[in-house]
Amino acid sequence: MDASMQVVPSGSAIGADILGADLSRGLDAATFRAIEAAFNERSVVCLRDQHLTEEQFIAFAKRFGEVEIIFLTHYAHPRYPEIMLVSNIQENGRNIGHVDAGRVWHTDMSYTATPPRATLLYAIDVPEEAGRVLGDTLFASAVAAYDGLPEAMKRRLEGLRAVHRVSGRRKKTGTGKEDNPLRDRQPDVLHPVIRTHPVTGRKAIYVSEGECTGIVGMEDAEALPLLADLAQRIIRKDYQYRHRWRKGDVLIWDNPAVQHIALRDYEWPRHRRLMHRITVGGSATY
Ligand code: SIN
Repeated sequence: MDASMQVVPSGSAIGADILGADLSRGLDAATFRAIEAAFNERSVVCLRDQHLTEEQFIAFAKRFGEVEIIFLTHYAHPRYPEIMLVSNIQENGRNIGHVDAGRVWHTDMSYTATPPRATLLYAIDVPEEAGRVLGDTLFASAVAAYDGLPEAMKRRLEGLRAVHRVSGRRKKTGTGKEDNPLRDRQPDVLHPVIRTHPVTGRKAIYVSEGECTGIVGMEDAEALPLLADLAQRIIRKDYQYRHRWRKGDVLIWDNPAVQHIALRDYEWPRHRRLMHRITVGGSATY
């Protein structure tokens, strides 16, 4: 293992910086195991100061599992379909990437049957204003939120399954935008309200207000307030980690364990933000 590598916990419930690892050189098995262990333990880890080609970024992501091909094809990197561009940059009057990614608290792609194990975001351009970095991303531990539930509530939730749909709640209430026919072809999927992490075995609350439209076998009058209550419990301040970006960051988050939201406190053309994003495939939920 690379002896200079150091894992520095954030001081919050989740999150750590990993210093001294150079992803462009490829990693020996022991170094990767140490990164993966920190990822499993801290749920969100940031490898600082990276200088990666697209191929090197994809090769690193593949160490975590199968890299997914971007299904929102109009946001895909023009030469690497594994990479989605998350950006506010416009060229020839159109956005080069996904400008609205992560605007509400969510866990990535819970509207799929096998939601991604991990998401990696590589910071190419980070917006700044008067020396202050903009566009922070906030994470919250759904594991800590489960651990903090009263025992009676844990028992009540056991065995319940929620319905997940792309931007489902916004559509249901007529406030969603119908901007992408691909999204509308995704059928509803069911996931347990309390999900067991496939690697750590820890339990987490697995619902979000944006995507969940109901709970199987429960009237909306009961299910929707319950979903709202659970979603609020996840994003408690003491379960949060706030990531302040630096150019060259490779941030990795554990989708079964955390939720996130991206802050939009920057604007085009005053500020430029460009991230390369890769998702690593996951497994059926239980
Ligand atoms: C995302 O939710 O994938 C985007 C997060 C970010 O842009 O910070």
